[in-house]
Formats: sequence, structure tokens, C-alpha cells
Amino acid sequence: MSSAVDPTRINDLPALVGQTVTVSGWVTHLRSSGKVAFVVMRDGTGTLQCVVAKKEVSEATWEQFGLLTLEASFSVTGAVRADARQVGGVEIGVKELTLLGPSALDYPIQPKEHGVDFLMDNRHFWLRTPRQVAIMRIRNEIEQAIHDFFYERGFLRVDTPILTAAIGERSGLFATEYFDEGTAYLAQTGQLYGEAAAAAFGKIYTFGPTFRAEKSKTRRHLTEFWMIEPEVAFNDTHANMRLQEDFVSFLVQRVLERRPAELKELERDVSKLEGIKAPFPRIDYTDAVATLQRKGSKVTWGEDLGAEDEALLVADYETPIFICNYPKEAKAFYMKENPADPRTVLCDDMLAPEGYGEIIGGSQREDDYDKLLHRIHEEKLPVEAYSWYLDLRKYGTFVHSGFGLGLERTVAWICGSPHIRECIPFPRLLNRLHP
Ligand code: 4AD
Ligand code: MG
Repeated sequence: MSSAVDPTRINDLPALVGQTVTVSGWVTHLRSSGKVAFVVMRDGTGTLQCVVAKKEVSEATWEQFGLLTLEASFSVTGAVRADARQVGGVEIGVKELTLLGPSALDYPIQPKEHGVDFLMDNRHFWLRTPRQVAIMRIRNEIEQAIHDFFYERGFLRVDTPILTAAIGERSGLFATEYFDEGTAYLAQTGQLYGEAAAAAFGKIYTFGPTFRAEKSKTRRHLTEFWMIEPEVAFNDTHANMRLQEDFVSFLVQRVLERRPAELKELERDVSKLEGIKAPFPRIDYTDAVATLQRKGSKVTWGEDLGAEDEALLVADYETPIFICNYPKEAKAFYMKENPADPRTVLCDDMLAPEGYGEIIGGSQREDDYDKLLHRIHEEKLPVEAYSWYLDLRKYGTFVHSGFGLGLERTVAWICGSPHIRECIPFPRLLNRLHP
């Protein structure tokens, strides 16, 4: 039974057939024959057909029904009845209905096709629609799975700062004045702090928002996105890739197991996800460039791979693939020089199948003080800002590796969504700061 403290939700109802309950939610559909009226309620946990028979309810309730409009909030009290035709297998025979919050007739999202810009302007309403609810539930499942995976493996979650003095990646920075300390930058990565934490706790991960002031207007770039970054003491690049493939397989299998209804809502071809199991193929960057050139790409050795090149490479595979050991100049300063070929670094990008592109960037970290300092100079980075980071190589340096998985790109791939903008509740893009 419902109470003000813990209201009954629609997804509780299948267990309550035969009982009288009160449920509250919003109107998604209305129709009436004049004698019997139907209103479909959604409450975020499901949808519920409410049947109002004129001769079985008070005049007041029948009048309240007449005031309902699309997205008005209301509550109903009545008996839960089994009805195999309904989603969830139940409907409610209404005894009482109360309009709680009227909704103006010009509710922006109507049951018709809307353009994406319009939907984005109305993101606060767009989030209420079934597809968006399904994506957010899958996102939540992935977030929970991330915590479960690392908790069960003895990793410590470390929260790293968002306001930083040191910088991490090469792409654009958001800056803000920071009292008498000069300029602070919004974190592009938690990694450098993660490395310090790995020396304190052994195995750690960070999970937080990261910021990139990149002028990229693509299907896979946000200016604010969430990244999960493990960092492991005494893992080399090979152990690092094994962790990545186990992790990604775990996430995919978890969504398949626990979110079949949401995948169905999204019309996701789950056969494409069922085969995502470790191990994943490893392709050396140099071999990848040769393959790409054979396929007609203009890429030359030394460059990072663009989205088109990535798509050409994954076309031959049904699982994610690793591209390993990129040229030094294509990657960040902190990656460890490859002893077997010092022109390259010990790193990997994981590319998702079906053209979703890079979801992980990972590497073994440079643990040699002099080599790291040399790279910092070469990249013309402010050495003072990195002094504490260099210290990690001065006092008990250690082999260590880690990676960053972009949450929204992973959600987009698993959901089969064409654009990252619907994979985060309120996306921040080059041209979008509202709502
Ligand atoms: O490859 P990236 O830049 O690697 C790092 O930031 C490392 N510090 C990670 C580490 O080793 N700890 O970014 C990692 C991942 C990418 O593979 C991608 O999935 C995601 O973060 N990403 C973005 N997602 C959305 N919008 C953007 N602008 C993104 N930039 C990177
Ligand atoms: Mg990368």
C-alpha cells in the first residue's frame, strides 16, 4: 500500500494484483468514449493504463479526468488488475482520480517527429520520453557495474580535483581565475593524481566529470564528459590491456543481463553485443597504418588515427580492437617509451565495433625521471606545475599503467545511439550550454 513517505511505483504493481493502491505520475495518452476513459500514466519506472468507467466513479473524479492534459501530473486510487495485453501485465481500475499539477496545452513535445535542435532545446522534457529513459537506465547500469567491477577487485576509488594547476592532455583547456594563485584549469583527466594515488593505495580508479575545450563538433565529442580512470601499480602495458578487455566485457554482459527491456525499447541488435567477450585483438599501430594504406587511406606513419581510419580498421572485426604502440609524437607526454622501438610508446586505444570509435585511451606511464623531464620540456609544458608529478619518479618510482574509458561513448555504443548528446542527461557541446 502506498504512503506519503514511500509511494507505490508502477513497477511495484505486478506483485500487487487484487489490491487497492494509489499511484502518482504524468499523463502520456488520453482517450475517452464518453462512458469509459483511458489515461496512460508514466512515473519513470514504467507506464500504466488507468481505466475510468463513468458509472463506477464519482462525478468529481469524472470531472478531474476531463481536466487532464498531456504531461499533467495526477494520482489514481483503484484496484490493480491483471491484463496480459498491458506492459507489465497489469492495469488499474480507477475509483478516484486527482489532478495534481495541470500542464499547459502547449507542452512542447507532442506525439510527432521533432527536429534534434528542438529536442535539445527541450532537453528537460525530452528526458521524459521512453527512449531517453531507457538510455539513462542503461547509463546508470553501466555506472553501477563500473563500481562493482572495481570494488570486487579490491580497487580504491579516489576522487581527484576538478580545479587543477597541472594539465593532462593536449586538447583545449577551460580556465578560470583562482584567487592569488593565478589560473586554474578544469581537469581534462584525473590521471596524474591517479598515479600519485596508485603509489599510495596500489590499485585505484577515479570516476568524474572531465572537461575539454575542443572545437570538435562531432557525434562523439562533448566539452564535459565522464571518465573512469583506473591506475595500477606494477601493471605493465600487457596487464593493462587485459584489465581493459575484462572490464569492457563485464560492462556489456551486465547490461545484457539486467537491462533487456531497455535494449528492446532502443531496438538494439543484441546479437552484436552478445559476442563481446575478452580477449580482443591487438594490432600494432605500424601494422594498422599499413592496413589503412592498403585500404586507400592517406594516413602516414607518425599521425594519430582519425575517425575515418578507425572505422576502416574496425570494419573487419565484431569485437572491440586494440591499436597499440603509437608514435611518440601522436600521444601524450607521460606515456612510456617503448624499449623495443623508442620512436613509439607503450600505449593502446580501444576502438569499439560498429564504427563507434575510440572508447578507451590507455598506457604504461614513463617511470624514468630524466626521460619524463625531457618529454615535459619537449612539449613546452610548465615544469613547475609538474614538480609533484616528477617527484613520483624520484621517490620510489614504479612500473604502472592505467587507462581512461569515456562513459558517454561507451553508453552510445552499448545503446546503439547515433549521437553522444543523448547519452548524458544535460549535454555540454560546443554550441550548447542550455538547458
Ligand atoms: O584518450 P584520452 O584523452 O585519455 C586520457 O584522458 C588519459 N588521461 C586516460 C588515462 O590513461 N587515464 O581520453 C580517454 C577517453 C577516450 O577514449 C574517449 O572515450 C573519452 O575519454 N573522451 C571523450 N568523450 C567525450 N567527449 C570528448 N571530448 C572526449 N575526449 C575523450
Ligand atoms: Mg585518446
